Amino acid sequence: MISRGTTGSMAVTPGWYGADPTRMDLKTNPHSPYRQLRESQPVNLTPNGDWRLSRYQDVQKLLKHSHSGMRDTQGIIPGETAEDSANSKFMLRMDPPDHDRIRNLVSKAFTPRALNAIGPAIEPFVQQELERVAEQGVMDVATDLSITAPAASMCAMLGVPFEDRHRLTRLVSLATNRLAKLAVPDMQEDAEAAIYELAGYMLELIEERRRKPSDDILGQLVTAEEAGDRLSNDELLQQSIGLLGAGLETTIGLIGNSMMAFSRHPEQFERLAAHPELTPSAVEECLRFEPSIPMTMRVLWEDTEFGGITIPKNSRVIALIIAANRDPAVFTAPDTFDIGRREAKHCSFGGGIHFCLGSHLARLNTDITFRAVAAKFTDLQVDESKLEWAPSLFRVPGKLPATFRLR
Ligand code: HEM
Repeated sequence: MISRGTTGSMAVTPGWYGADPTRMDLKTNPHSPYRQLRESQPVNLTPNGDWRLSRYQDVQKLLKHSHSGMRDTQGIIPGETAEDSANSKFMLRMDPPDHDRIRNLVSKAFTPRALNAIGPAIEPFVQQELERVAEQGVMDVATDLSITAPAASMCAMLGVPFEDRHRLTRLVSLATNRLAKLAVPDMQEDAEAAIYELAGYMLELIEERRRKPSDDILGQLVTAEEAGDRLSNDELLQQSIGLLGAGLETTIGLIGNSMMAFSRHPEQFERLAAHPELTPSAVEECLRFEPSIPMTMRVLWEDTEFGGITIPKNSRVIALIIAANRDPAVFTAPDTFDIGRREAKHCSFGGGIHFCLGSHLARLNTDITFRAVAAKFTDLQVDESKLEWAPSLFRVPGKLPATFRLR
Protein backbone atom coordinates (compact mmCIF):
# COMPACT_ATOMS: atom_id res chain seq x y z
CA MET A 1 0.00 0.00 0.00
CA ILE A 2 1.29 3.47 -0.81
CA SER A 3 0.52 5.98 1.87
CA ARG A 4 -1.40 9.17 1.59
CA GLY A 5 0.53 12.39 1.55
CA THR A 6 4.04 11.24 0.69
CA THR A 7 6.01 12.72 -2.15
CA GLY A 8 9.32 12.17 -3.85
CA SER A 9 10.53 8.87 -5.16
CA MET A 10 10.09 6.99 -1.88
CA ALA A 11 6.89 5.10 -1.21
CA VAL A 12 5.90 4.71 2.40
CA THR A 13 3.90 1.74 3.59
CA PRO A 14 2.15 2.40 6.90
CA GLY A 15 2.92 -0.01 9.72
CA TRP A 16 4.33 -0.38 13.22
CA TYR A 17 7.28 -2.41 11.96
CA GLY A 18 7.56 -4.34 15.22
CA ALA A 19 7.53 -1.18 17.35
CA ASP A 20 3.86 -0.99 18.38
CA PRO A 21 3.75 1.43 21.35
CA THR A 22 0.72 -0.22 22.96
CA ARG A 23 2.64 -3.48 23.47
CA MET A 24 3.83 -3.68 27.07
CA ASP A 25 6.95 -5.62 26.02
CA LEU A 26 8.07 -2.56 24.06
CA LYS A 27 8.61 -0.86 27.41
CA THR A 28 10.67 -3.77 28.69
CA ASN A 29 12.68 -4.43 25.54
CA PRO A 30 12.49 -1.30 23.40
CA HIS A 31 15.93 -1.07 21.89
CA SER A 32 15.99 -3.88 19.39
CA PRO A 33 12.57 -3.02 17.84
CA TYR A 34 13.45 0.68 17.65
CA ARG A 35 16.83 -0.13 16.13
CA GLN A 36 15.11 -2.18 13.44
CA LEU A 37 12.66 0.66 12.84
CA ARG A 38 15.48 3.21 12.56
CA GLU A 39 17.33 0.99 10.13
CA SER A 40 14.34 -0.04 7.99
CA GLN A 41 11.80 2.83 8.26
CA PRO A 42 13.54 5.86 9.74
CA VAL A 43 10.64 8.03 8.56
CA ASN A 44 7.70 5.85 9.54
CA LEU A 45 4.02 6.36 8.85
CA THR A 46 2.04 4.49 11.53
CA PRO A 47 -1.29 2.76 10.93
CA ASN A 48 -3.08 5.56 12.84
CA GLY A 49 -1.70 8.27 10.57
CA ASP A 50 1.05 9.65 12.84
CA TRP A 51 4.62 9.81 11.62
CA ARG A 52 7.63 8.67 13.65
CA LEU A 53 11.24 9.76 13.30
CA SER A 54 14.01 7.65 14.77
CA ARG A 55 17.25 9.11 13.39
CA TYR A 56 19.06 11.66 15.52
CA GLN A 57 19.34 14.28 12.80
CA ASP A 58 15.64 14.03 11.91
CA VAL A 59 14.61 14.31 15.56
CA GLN A 60 16.82 17.39 15.97
CA LYS A 61 15.44 18.91 12.79
CA LEU A 62 11.88 18.40 13.97
CA LEU A 63 12.42 19.78 17.47
CA LYS A 64 14.79 22.63 16.71
CA HIS A 65 14.52 23.65 13.09
CA SER A 66 11.06 22.87 11.74
CA HIS A 67 8.06 25.15 11.47
CA SER A 68 5.89 23.21 13.91
CA GLY A 69 4.09 23.29 17.24
CA MET A 70 1.95 21.33 19.66
CA ARG A 71 -1.29 22.13 17.83
CA ASP A 72 -2.34 22.13 14.21
CA THR A 73 -2.76 25.29 12.19
CA GLN A 74 -6.33 25.64 13.55
CA GLY A 75 -5.05 25.56 17.14
CA ILE A 76 -6.37 22.03 17.76
CA ILE A 77 -4.34 19.45 19.69
CA PRO A 78 -4.36 16.22 17.65
CA GLY A 79 -6.95 13.78 19.00
CA GLU A 80 -8.72 16.49 21.02
CA THR A 81 -11.93 18.43 20.37
CA ALA A 82 -11.76 22.19 19.74
CA GLU A 83 -13.28 22.75 23.20
CA ASP A 84 -10.78 20.48 24.99
CA SER A 85 -7.94 22.15 23.10
CA ALA A 86 -9.16 25.61 24.15
CA ASN A 87 -9.26 24.47 27.79
CA SER A 88 -5.85 22.80 27.70
CA LYS A 89 -3.37 25.26 29.18
CA PHE A 90 -0.29 23.36 30.35
CA MET A 91 2.64 24.96 28.53
CA LEU A 92 3.66 21.72 26.83
CA ARG A 93 0.32 21.69 25.03
CA MET A 94 0.56 25.30 23.88
CA ASP A 95 2.14 27.28 21.05
CA PRO A 96 3.48 30.83 20.96
CA PRO A 97 2.51 33.44 21.92
CA ASP A 98 0.51 31.71 24.73
CA HIS A 99 3.27 29.17 25.39
CA ASP A 100 5.96 31.83 25.72
CA ARG A 101 3.84 33.97 28.03
CA ILE A 102 3.16 31.05 30.40
CA ARG A 103 6.71 29.65 30.24
CA ASN A 104 8.09 33.12 31.06
CA LEU A 105 5.84 33.45 34.07
CA VAL A 106 6.60 29.94 35.36
CA SER A 107 10.35 30.31 34.71
CA LYS A 108 10.34 33.14 37.23
CA ALA A 109 9.80 30.53 39.92
CA PHE A 110 12.65 28.32 38.59
CA THR A 111 15.42 30.71 39.59
CA PRO A 112 18.90 29.42 40.44
CA ARG A 113 18.19 30.56 44.01
CA ALA A 114 15.04 28.44 44.22
CA LEU A 115 16.85 25.41 42.79
CA ASN A 116 19.89 25.88 45.04
CA ALA A 117 17.61 25.76 48.03
CA ILE A 118 16.11 22.46 46.92
CA GLY A 119 19.35 20.36 46.88
CA PRO A 120 19.98 20.46 50.65
CA ALA A 121 16.27 19.85 51.24
CA ILE A 122 16.36 16.60 49.23
CA GLU A 123 19.47 14.93 50.63
CA PRO A 124 18.23 14.11 54.14
CA PHE A 125 15.16 12.37 52.70
CA VAL A 126 17.34 10.20 50.45
CA GLN A 127 19.73 9.31 53.30
CA GLN A 128 16.84 8.51 55.61
CA GLU A 129 15.17 6.21 53.08
CA LEU A 130 18.49 4.44 52.39
CA GLU A 131 19.00 3.90 56.14
CA ARG A 132 15.54 2.40 56.36
CA VAL A 133 16.04 -0.05 53.47
CA ALA A 134 19.59 -0.85 54.64
CA GLU A 135 18.07 -2.25 57.83
CA GLN A 136 15.60 -4.30 55.78
CA GLY A 137 18.35 -5.70 53.52
CA VAL A 138 16.06 -5.55 50.49
CA MET A 139 14.26 -2.76 48.72
CA ASP A 140 11.77 -2.00 46.04
CA VAL A 141 13.71 0.33 43.76
CA ALA A 142 10.50 2.03 42.59
CA THR A 143 8.76 2.70 45.87
CA ASP A 144 11.76 2.94 48.25
CA LEU A 145 14.42 4.62 46.14
CA SER A 146 13.42 6.26 42.84
CA ILE A 147 10.51 8.12 44.34
CA THR A 148 12.40 9.74 47.21
CA ALA A 149 14.38 12.60 45.64
CA PRO A 150 11.65 13.64 43.16
CA ALA A 151 9.01 13.55 45.91
CA ALA A 152 11.25 15.51 48.28
CA SER A 153 11.83 18.15 45.63
CA MET A 154 8.10 18.39 44.99
CA CYS A 155 7.71 18.93 48.75
CA ALA A 156 10.16 21.79 48.58
CA MET A 157 8.74 23.27 45.37
CA LEU A 158 5.03 22.81 45.67
CA GLY A 159 4.57 22.20 49.38
CA VAL A 160 3.22 18.71 48.73
CA PRO A 161 3.52 16.57 51.91
CA PHE A 162 6.15 13.80 51.52
CA GLU A 163 3.69 11.29 53.01
CA ASP A 164 1.41 11.74 49.98
CA ARG A 165 4.11 10.65 47.52
CA HIS A 166 2.76 7.19 46.70
CA ARG A 167 -0.81 8.38 46.15
CA LEU A 168 0.32 11.33 44.00
CA THR A 169 2.73 9.22 41.98
CA ARG A 170 -0.04 6.78 41.11
CA LEU A 171 -2.37 9.62 40.14
CA VAL A 172 0.17 11.37 37.89
CA SER A 173 1.06 8.01 36.36
CA LEU A 174 -2.55 7.43 35.39
CA ALA A 175 -2.95 11.05 34.29
CA THR A 176 -0.15 10.78 31.68
CA ASN A 177 -2.41 8.57 29.58
CA ARG A 178 -4.52 11.66 28.88
CA LEU A 179 -1.69 12.75 26.55
CA ALA A 180 -2.41 9.86 24.18
CA LYS A 181 -6.17 9.57 23.91
CA LEU A 182 -6.01 7.61 20.67
CA ALA A 183 -3.13 5.30 21.52
CA VAL A 184 -4.56 4.11 24.86
CA PRO A 185 -8.36 4.57 24.70
CA ASP A 186 -9.02 2.10 27.54
CA MET A 187 -6.98 4.21 30.00
CA GLN A 188 -8.96 7.42 29.45
CA GLU A 189 -11.56 6.97 32.18
CA ASP A 190 -8.88 6.35 34.82
CA ALA A 191 -6.83 9.25 33.47
CA GLU A 192 -9.79 11.67 33.74
CA ALA A 193 -10.58 10.51 37.28
CA ALA A 194 -6.93 10.94 38.28
CA ILE A 195 -6.78 14.47 36.84
CA TYR A 196 -9.98 15.36 38.69
CA GLU A 197 -8.51 14.15 41.98
CA LEU A 198 -5.21 15.93 41.33
CA ALA A 199 -7.05 19.16 40.53
CA GLY A 200 -8.92 19.04 43.85
CA TYR A 201 -5.65 18.33 45.67
CA MET A 202 -3.68 21.14 44.02
CA LEU A 203 -6.54 23.65 44.39
CA GLU A 204 -6.36 23.28 48.15
CA LEU A 205 -2.61 23.97 48.10
CA ILE A 206 -3.12 27.01 45.85
CA GLU A 207 -5.87 28.39 48.09
CA GLU A 208 -3.57 27.95 51.07
CA ARG A 209 -0.88 30.03 49.27
CA ARG A 210 -3.42 32.76 48.56
CA ARG A 211 -4.39 32.93 52.23
CA LYS A 212 -0.79 32.69 53.43
CA PRO A 213 1.83 33.68 50.83
CA SER A 214 4.89 31.39 50.80
CA ASP A 215 8.36 31.48 49.38
CA ASP A 216 8.24 28.09 47.63
CA ILE A 217 7.80 27.78 43.89
CA LEU A 218 4.03 27.31 44.14
CA GLY A 219 3.84 30.46 46.27
CA GLN A 220 5.85 32.30 43.65
CA LEU A 221 3.66 30.98 40.86
CA VAL A 222 0.61 32.37 42.64
CA THR A 223 2.18 35.81 42.62
CA ALA A 224 4.40 35.51 39.50
CA GLU A 225 3.79 38.55 37.47
CA GLU A 226 5.36 40.22 34.49
CA ALA A 227 4.37 43.61 33.18
CA GLY A 228 1.04 43.40 35.00
CA ASP A 229 0.36 39.92 33.58
CA ARG A 230 -0.47 37.00 35.88
CA LEU A 231 -1.43 33.36 35.52
CA SER A 232 -5.20 32.94 35.65
CA ASN A 233 -6.62 30.43 38.14
CA ASP A 234 -7.04 27.80 35.48
CA GLU A 235 -3.57 28.39 34.02
CA LEU A 236 -2.06 28.18 37.48
CA LEU A 237 -3.86 24.95 38.30
CA GLN A 238 -2.82 23.31 35.04
CA GLN A 239 0.81 24.38 35.41
CA SER A 240 0.95 23.01 38.96
CA ILE A 241 -0.57 19.66 37.99
CA GLY A 242 1.75 19.56 34.97
CA LEU A 243 4.78 20.35 37.12
CA LEU A 244 3.83 17.71 39.65
CA GLY A 245 3.55 15.16 36.85
CA ALA A 246 6.74 16.30 35.16
CA GLY A 247 8.55 16.43 38.48
CA LEU A 248 7.60 12.97 39.73
CA GLU A 249 6.98 10.62 36.84
CA THR A 250 9.95 11.46 34.64
CA THR A 251 12.64 11.29 37.28
CA ILE A 252 11.18 8.28 39.09
CA GLY A 253 11.32 6.51 35.73
CA LEU A 254 14.86 7.64 35.04
CA ILE A 255 16.20 6.48 38.40
CA GLY A 256 14.37 3.12 38.19
CA ASN A 257 15.59 2.45 34.64
CA SER A 258 19.11 3.49 35.65
CA MET A 259 19.17 1.01 38.53
CA MET A 260 18.23 -1.73 36.06
CA ALA A 261 21.11 -0.63 33.83
CA PHE A 262 23.52 -0.64 36.80
CA SER A 263 22.32 -4.07 37.86
CA ARG A 264 23.00 -5.39 34.34
CA HIS A 265 26.39 -3.65 34.30
CA PRO A 266 27.77 -4.05 37.84
CA GLU A 267 31.24 -2.91 36.72
CA GLN A 268 29.73 0.50 35.89
CA PHE A 269 28.13 0.69 39.33
CA GLU A 270 31.49 -0.07 40.97
CA ARG A 271 33.13 2.53 38.73
CA LEU A 272 30.58 5.10 39.92
CA ALA A 273 31.27 4.21 43.55
CA ALA A 274 35.04 4.46 43.05
CA HIS A 275 34.78 7.70 41.03
CA PRO A 276 31.95 9.86 42.36
CA GLU A 277 33.29 12.64 40.12
CA LEU A 278 31.79 10.64 37.23
CA THR A 279 28.27 11.12 38.64
CA PRO A 280 27.29 13.97 36.25
CA SER A 281 28.35 11.98 33.18
CA ALA A 282 26.66 8.86 34.63
CA VAL A 283 23.41 10.84 34.86
CA GLU A 284 23.75 11.93 31.22
CA GLU A 285 24.54 8.39 30.12
CA CYS A 286 21.47 7.02 31.91
CA LEU A 287 19.34 9.73 30.30
CA ARG A 288 20.69 8.63 26.91
CA PHE A 289 20.71 4.89 27.48
CA GLU A 290 17.38 4.28 29.23
CA PRO A 291 15.18 7.37 28.86
CA SER A 292 11.93 7.41 30.83
CA ILE A 293 10.21 9.64 28.26
CA PRO A 294 10.75 7.72 25.03
CA MET A 295 9.16 10.27 22.75
CA THR A 296 7.76 13.74 22.29
CA MET A 297 5.77 15.18 19.41
CA ARG A 298 5.08 18.16 17.15
CA VAL A 299 2.50 19.05 14.51
CA LEU A 300 4.00 20.38 11.27
CA TRP A 301 2.83 23.80 10.14
CA GLU A 302 4.15 23.31 6.62
CA ASP A 303 5.15 20.37 4.39
CA THR A 304 8.58 19.31 5.62
CA GLU A 305 11.13 16.92 4.21
CA PHE A 306 12.84 14.30 6.38
CA GLY A 307 15.34 11.95 4.77
CA GLY A 308 13.86 12.28 1.29
CA ILE A 309 10.23 11.97 2.38
CA THR A 310 7.96 14.97 2.58
CA ILE A 311 5.57 14.85 5.50
CA PRO A 312 2.49 16.97 4.90
CA LYS A 313 1.45 20.02 6.88
CA ASN A 314 -0.71 19.33 9.94
CA SER A 315 0.64 15.80 10.39
CA ARG A 316 1.50 14.75 13.91
CA VAL A 317 5.13 13.73 14.02
CA ILE A 318 6.58 11.75 16.91
CA ALA A 319 10.23 12.23 17.77
CA LEU A 320 11.49 8.85 19.01
CA ILE A 321 13.98 10.10 21.57
CA ILE A 322 14.76 6.54 22.66
CA ALA A 323 15.81 5.54 19.12
CA ALA A 324 17.70 8.76 18.33
CA ASN A 325 19.72 8.37 21.54
CA ARG A 326 21.24 5.18 20.12
CA ASP A 327 21.83 6.37 16.57
CA PRO A 328 25.28 5.09 15.56
CA ALA A 329 25.65 8.08 13.23
CA VAL A 330 26.12 10.19 16.37
CA PHE A 331 27.08 7.93 19.28
CA THR A 332 30.09 5.64 19.30
CA ALA A 333 29.09 2.07 20.24
CA PRO A 334 25.57 3.30 21.10
CA ASP A 335 24.51 0.06 22.81
CA THR A 336 27.40 0.22 25.26
CA PHE A 337 26.59 1.62 28.70
CA ASP A 338 29.57 3.79 29.60
CA ILE A 339 29.20 6.24 32.49
CA GLY A 340 32.36 8.06 31.41
CA ARG A 341 30.98 8.81 27.94
CA ARG A 342 31.63 12.35 26.86
CA GLU A 343 29.03 12.58 24.10
CA ALA A 344 26.37 14.20 26.27
CA LYS A 345 24.07 15.31 23.50
CA HIS A 346 21.14 12.97 24.00
CA CYS A 347 17.61 14.07 23.09
CA SER A 348 16.01 13.10 26.40
CA PHE A 349 14.95 16.62 27.38
CA GLY A 350 13.49 17.41 23.93
CA GLY A 351 14.49 20.59 22.14
CA GLY A 352 13.56 24.01 20.84
CA ILE A 353 11.14 26.21 22.76
CA HIS A 354 9.69 23.28 24.74
CA PHE A 355 13.09 22.04 25.99
CA CYS A 356 12.46 20.61 29.46
CA LEU A 357 12.13 23.42 31.98
CA GLY A 358 13.03 21.04 34.81
CA SER A 359 16.23 19.59 33.33
CA HIS A 360 18.43 21.09 36.09
CA LEU A 361 16.14 19.79 38.79
CA ALA A 362 15.98 16.34 37.15
CA ARG A 363 19.78 16.19 37.04
CA LEU A 364 20.02 17.35 40.64
CA ASN A 365 17.59 14.68 41.90
CA THR A 366 19.31 11.92 39.97
CA ASP A 367 22.80 13.08 40.94
CA ILE A 368 21.94 13.08 44.64
CA THR A 369 20.36 9.62 44.41
CA PHE A 370 23.25 8.07 42.44
CA ARG A 371 25.89 9.41 44.84
CA ALA A 372 24.00 8.20 47.90
CA VAL A 373 23.26 4.69 46.58
CA ALA A 374 26.73 4.08 45.16
CA ALA A 375 28.39 5.21 48.39
CA LYS A 376 26.26 2.93 50.56
CA PHE A 377 25.42 -0.20 48.57
CA THR A 378 27.31 -2.73 46.52
CA ASP A 379 26.30 -5.88 44.67
CA LEU A 380 23.02 -4.28 43.63
CA GLN A 381 20.83 -6.88 41.96
CA VAL A 382 17.50 -5.95 40.54
CA ASP A 383 15.04 -8.81 40.01
CA GLU A 384 13.75 -7.93 36.56
CA SER A 385 11.48 -10.98 36.52
CA LYS A 386 9.37 -9.13 39.12
CA LEU A 387 9.37 -5.80 37.30
CA GLU A 388 5.92 -4.21 37.00
CA TRP A 389 5.51 -1.03 34.98
CA ALA A 390 3.50 1.82 36.50
CA PRO A 391 0.16 2.45 34.73
CA SER A 392 1.83 5.30 32.84
CA LEU A 393 2.25 6.25 29.23
CA PHE A 394 5.97 6.47 29.92
CA ARG A 395 8.71 3.98 30.94
CA VAL A 396 8.35 4.14 34.69
CA PRO A 397 8.92 1.04 36.84
CA GLY A 398 6.14 0.78 39.44
CA LYS A 399 7.56 -2.29 41.23
CA LEU A 400 11.17 -3.39 41.04
CA PRO A 401 12.56 -5.54 43.89
CA ALA A 402 16.31 -5.51 44.47
CA THR A 403 18.89 -6.92 46.82
CA PHE A 404 22.23 -5.37 47.81
CA ARG A 405 25.02 -5.55 50.37
CA LEU A 406 26.25 -2.70 52.50
CA ARG A 407 29.57 -1.30 51.34
C1 HEM B 1 14.43 12.74 34.02
C2 HEM B 1 13.60 13.71 34.16
C3 HEM B 1 12.92 14.44 33.04
C4 HEM B 1 12.84 14.13 31.70
C5 HEM B 1 13.43 12.94 30.98
C6 HEM B 1 12.04 15.17 31.08
C7 HEM B 1 11.74 15.22 29.75
C8 HEM B 1 10.98 16.21 29.14
C9 HEM B 1 10.64 16.21 27.74
C10 HEM B 1 11.03 15.17 26.72
C11 HEM B 1 9.90 17.33 27.54
C12 HEM B 1 9.30 17.77 26.19
C13 HEM B 1 10.31 18.57 25.43
C14 HEM B 1 9.97 18.78 23.98
O1 HEM B 1 8.90 18.35 23.52
O2 HEM B 1 10.80 19.38 23.28
C15 HEM B 1 9.78 18.03 28.80
C16 HEM B 1 9.11 19.21 28.97
C17 HEM B 1 8.91 19.78 30.20
N1 HEM B 1 9.42 19.37 31.41
FE1 HEM B 1 10.64 17.80 31.71
N2 HEM B 1 11.65 16.06 32.05
C18 HEM B 1 12.17 15.67 33.25
C19 HEM B 1 12.02 16.29 34.47
C20 HEM B 1 11.31 17.44 34.68
C21 HEM B 1 11.14 18.09 35.97
C22 HEM B 1 11.80 17.62 37.26
C23 HEM B 1 10.34 19.17 35.76
C24 HEM B 1 9.85 20.20 36.74
C25 HEM B 1 9.47 19.98 37.93
C26 HEM B 1 10.01 19.21 34.33
C27 HEM B 1 9.23 20.17 33.74
C28 HEM B 1 8.97 20.22 32.39
C29 HEM B 1 8.13 21.25 31.79
C30 HEM B 1 7.44 22.38 32.52
C31 HEM B 1 8.10 20.97 30.41
C32 HEM B 1 7.35 21.76 29.34
C33 HEM B 1 8.25 22.84 28.78
C34 HEM B 1 7.58 23.66 27.69
O3 HEM B 1 6.59 23.22 27.11
O4 HEM B 1 8.07 24.76 27.43
N3 HEM B 1 10.62 18.14 33.72
N4 HEM B 1 10.46 17.32 29.77
